[in-house]
Amino acid sequence: MKQLKITETSLRDGHQSLIATRLKTEEIVPILETMDQVGYYAMEVWGGATFDACIRFLNEDPWERLRLIRKHIKNTKLQMLLRGQNLLGYRHYADDIVEKFIELSIKNGIDIIRVFDALNDVKNLEASIKAIKKYKGHCQCAISYTTSPIHTTEYYIELAKTMEEMGADSICIKDMAGVLTPYNAYDLVKKLKKITNIPINLHTHCTSGIADMIYMKAVEAGVDIIDTAISPFSGGTSQPPTESLAVTFSEMDRNPNLDMDKLLEVAEYFKPIRDKYMSEGVLNPKVLLTEPQALKYQVPGGMLSNLLSQLEQQGASHKYEDVLKEVPKVRKDLGYPPLVTPLSQMIGTQALFNVLNGERYKLVPKEIKDYVKGQYGKAPSPIDEEIKKKIIGDVKVISVRPADLLEPEFESMKKEVGDLAKTDEDVLAYALFPQVAPRYLENKYKLKVKEEIENKLIHYITVNM
Ligand code: CO
Repeated sequence: MKQLKITETSLRDGHQSLIATRLKTEEIVPILETMDQVGYYAMEVWGGATFDACIRFLNEDPWERLRLIRKHIKNTKLQMLLRGQNLLGYRHYADDIVEKFIELSIKNGIDIIRVFDALNDVKNLEASIKAIKKYKGHCQCAISYTTSPIHTTEYYIELAKTMEEMGADSICIKDMAGVLTPYNAYDLVKKLKKITNIPINLHTHCTSGIADMIYMKAVEAGVDIIDTAISPFSGGTSQPPTESLAVTFSEMDRNPNLDMDKLLEVAEYFKPIRDKYMSEGVLNPKVLLTEPQALKYQVPGGMLSNLLSQLEQQGASHKYEDVLKEVPKVRKDLGYPPLVTPLSQMIGTQALFNVLNGERYKLVPKEIKDYVKGQYGKAPSPIDEEIKKKIIGDVKVISVRPADLLEPEFESMKKEVGDLAKTDEDVLAYALFPQVAPRYLENKYKLKVKEEIENKLIHYITVNM
């Protein structure tokens, strides 16, 4: 049997799941060279939330973070998560933006791009796959895993076949909600291994308390790669701990051969950082608790806590159970979309509206209307006709690839952001996050100018004294 490969997620999903993606670059850099010696297959370090948090909260250049990580990680592959035609944002972008973004991500240090579409509509992956291949990245296509009467093992097998035909170098089963179960994982991996020779990667979350068993069964079925997080950023809504699984699997013929001493060093480094975020309240101990409701309602952990806080703000926390029960109903009405960004937020909001207004679909957010019109791609199964009529009336549903309706937009974005952007990377930051990027870009260059003035002043003083 082949050696099991481990992808370390702490620098993306790990801190995103537990501390709202707040790790700063200065907290990451000092331990990178040690992490590079662990023997991981890859490190996931970049994605939508990392980019967003950098410019929105941390006043950091996300591209600079990537370049710095690359500088210190010489042996291990760097991986990012990409939402297909949505890139790292929440809408569909034109193909020229998709290509530019992928080109620069790879140029700035990314090796593996894990690309997914929330609806598993492969049309929304076309442009990304093409660009990843063009710029010689590793294209990992991810299945957004969910459960429903149409999301059967056979459905996923067909999806994986299509992805491979489209050019996938590997396939990821992305169980973002932690709703996969150990025996289903075994069955799915076993069948995938029969139909394809490209590597299969499994990604899950500990939310519902069964992630370690999922990995155990998947490894027995021959999965090639699993995603784990170093212990201080593991468990709860994050991935299982790297150290524990490295030990577990070292006792079988698929030993991942990670350097245990280095792993412990990495864990010791992150412990006080984790503790700091816990004492500041950024890490809410609640996210570390096991939440089997995720399995019952098929709702991701992050969505559970979001719904609860939205209800609390409305003074309606007693409706929590009702909203949870409404979520699967909305999913059914709308053709069983997987609950992953941005669909999870959209379905959650609709369920909330349905319960709080006392009448279903009386109030419908614009995003749900767009979804019903086909602007996010094809719903996994047909949308209930009556509900569709109630939401969009007689408006025609589009069936082409949504991005085919978009004109190239990079040049117009460049014009729009004007002097604030000094590089193409800056233009992309603006294209992805137009509300927050201007303030971030202003600060970024103001600081630089200030630094330059200070440096000149110091130089002047030292030369002239
Ligand atoms: Co995840």
